[in-house]
Amino acid sequence: MAVEVGPVFKGRGWGSLWIYVVGLPRCRQILRAHEDDLHPVTIDVGTLFDKGILRQMEGDDHRRYRSALVQAIGALPADRAEGQVSRVGHSLKDMSGLQDAAPMPVQTFKSLLARIVLDELAHVIFGVEPGEPAHDELVAAYGELGGNGLVWNIGTRQARAYAAIAAILRRHSATTEARGPASTSVLANLLQQGPVDAVMLGNLIYMVEMGRYDMAAFFRWLTWFAAMHQDWMQRIAEATDTQQAVAAAFVMEALRLEQSERLVRRVKRDFVAEGFLFPKGANVRFCIWESHKSPDAHAEPFSFDPGRFLGERPGPDRYSPFGIDRHQCPFGAYSIRLAAAFVTALATHFHIGLSGSGAPVRGLYHWEPAEDFSPVFTERKPRSTNGSRP
Ligand code: HEM
Repeated sequence: MAVEVGPVFKGRGWGSLWIYVVGLPRCRQILRAHEDDLHPVTIDVGTLFDKGILRQMEGDDHRRYRSALVQAIGALPADRAEGQVSRVGHSLKDMSGLQDAAPMPVQTFKSLLARIVLDELAHVIFGVEPGEPAHDELVAAYGELGGNGLVWNIGTRQARAYAAIAAILRRHSATTEARGPASTSVLANLLQQGPVDAVMLGNLIYMVEMGRYDMAAFFRWLTWFAAMHQDWMQRIAEATDTQQAVAAAFVMEALRLEQSERLVRRVKRDFVAEGFLFPKGANVRFCIWESHKSPDAHAEPFSFDPGRFLGERPGPDRYSPFGIDRHQCPFGAYSIRLAAAFVTALATHFHIGLSGSGAPVRGLYHWEPAEDFSPVFTERKPRSTNGSRP
């Protein structure tokens, strides 16, 4: 549809009017000119805490909470990436059955990825590490909050789980605060700025909840790309000085092709853009996936080539997987580093084969690799001591 009737067109979905906008410069122009006419659409957590999540905040509230968060993320230590690689590597190696050259059962692999991501997010956001008493309590409570995916309509089970997580974190904050300036989590860095109110705490809780599904789903895509593009995995395994840069380029190219799909807004009052009426109440889908496939933005847009991210980086009118306006993802750089750590750990420890051959499927919130896709891991032998390429 984007090619045939785009770049702007209308349709009906889920009983309401949708307007689709394709092309990053066009999306940016409309978002900028009409930021006060558009409201971000996201999960309603109003029964759990006031003001909602950052994505739906506007004006001063948004500026205040976002700037505190960005400052706390900026104060995280720069050398986290090395720890991430070794942690992810250990999690992968510790899994029994990884090295027997048989496909890992689909659900086992999904659960492994979900666990790697939850452990990492609990560490970076809350400062809770595996082995600490609060860790197991958090894992159990997050199991109640969602489990197989983000629960969009908050019910009593979510309210109970949310209260449990907030109580664990309040107890934990007391000790985090006591740890002082050496702490390395977003929560600890926020506590350095002053008291963390219920709105900020609720936001942190939901960042972990939403981030864990998104990152685990993205890690599954990365594993699929790794199985499809062994040449790049070999290059990452063998790279020394450039390993981080090549792994990051691999991640950025995967994000250009998959997972980063759209921004959704609701029209608050009528306006006209690109010759179309955007009537009050309509939904607008700013099409990121399609925009990333435009030949104006990238040559041979459907082929996987991380090389396009080595050297000169495409600007935001050609590449914007983390959003376009003032709601851009504050965890963009962190997500790329974490995902690059995952790819590096995969490349360093394993050759990855492919089991399952179907087409991608529409999951709960994103397109995903085929339902039957599962990787086949075999151990990668350390490269020869003379360092020559095979
Ligand atoms: C590959 C991983 C990720 C992608 C592709 C991604 C993408 C995005 C996008 C496109 C937006 C803008 C949404 C909009 O304008 O409607 C956004 C916002 C946001 N993301 Fe991410 N994200 C990722 C990972 C994460 C993680 C791991 C976290 C936290 C744990 C996170 C936290 C947030 C927050 C809090 C916002 C709202 C910012 C605001 O409204 O000011 N994201 N993300």
